[in-house]
Amino acid sequence: MTLTLTSLPENYRAVVFGASGGIGRALLDHIQNDPRCGSVYAASRSGVSVSGVPGVAFNLDDPASIAAAMDAAAADGPLHLVIAATGALHSEGQMEPEKSWRHMSAPRLADAFAINTILPSLIIQAGLDRLARDSRDAPEKAVVAALSARVGSISDNRLGGWHAYRASKAALNQVIRTCSIELARKSKNALCVGLHPGTVDTPLSEPFQRGVPEGKLFTPAYSAERLLTVLDGLTPQESGRLFDWAGEEITP
Ligand SMILES: NC(=O)c1ccc[n+]([C@@H]2O[C@H](COP(=O)([O-])OP(=O)(O)OC[C@H]3O[C@@H](n4cnc5c(N)ncnc54)[C@H](OP(=O)(O)O)[C@@H]3O)[C@@H](O)[C@H]2O)c1
Repeated sequence: MTLTLTSLPENYRAVVFGASGGIGRALLDHIQNDPRCGSVYAASRSGVSVSGVPGVAFNLDDPASIAAAMDAAAADGPLHLVIAATGALHSEGQMEPEKSWRHMSAPRLADAFAINTILPSLIIQAGLDRLARDSRDAPEKAVVAALSARVGSISDNRLGGWHAYRASKAALNQVIRTCSIELARKSKNALCVGLHPGTVDTPLSEPFQRGVPEGKLFTPAYSAERLLTVLDGLTPQESGRLFDWAGEEITP
């Protein structure tokens, strides 16, 4: 299916960080097939080309590499669409979702905040600095979006568990809101938002898919198509908020 982001300018310039991930790759596939897209880059730790899209490398251990990757993506001009699709819920190291407060540990909390808060915050920072600005002649829409999660909502937390992941996404949502306030003063057609992709069949959700109700485990392609459609419909008035795959706002 070909998706056309009609709210972005013709020949818009885009970059997806986390392009090696399940949702990141699916976002990239849709964007590169959009006839309105002028250029798109795939940013990942390895820096390899993804789905034929040119790759750029970055590493959280070297924060300057994030700005350098954003520079490479903006080589042809300021960006109109920046998406941070990085994140982790579990890893082979210290990071496992906690079932009890007793499972919280300094390494688990530090890993979760590094990957789910600090990394996307630095991507957002670098993206905002290279975002297309309004001109009086051509007020262009431009978007910085980060994949967050519904479980980062404090008001929606009824189940408990996953302490570090929840907290790291809640902190990311606060960074998004804070940046959006500053962005509104600088550019009236730009947005900074968080997105919840639904439960998606990727390595991140794989160990937790058993309890997912029938029909509620999305393919990456479906979720990516929904997220881009939601982004296309958002206006600057909705900047700073968190939206799910259906376009519904999630309360903080
Ligand atoms: N899948 C779901 O059900 C679901 C639900 C709610 C929210 N989300 C959110 O959606 C986003 C994407 O998740 P996904 O399902 O696509 O997961 P995924 O397939 O596991 O992809 C995760 C991506 O994050 C990158 N990443 C992880 N740790 C990194 C690090 N330290 N430095 C740089 N990159 C790193 C991975 O890069 P490498 O390939 O280099 O490891 C990969 O590109 C995440 O923010 C996640 O929290 C997903």
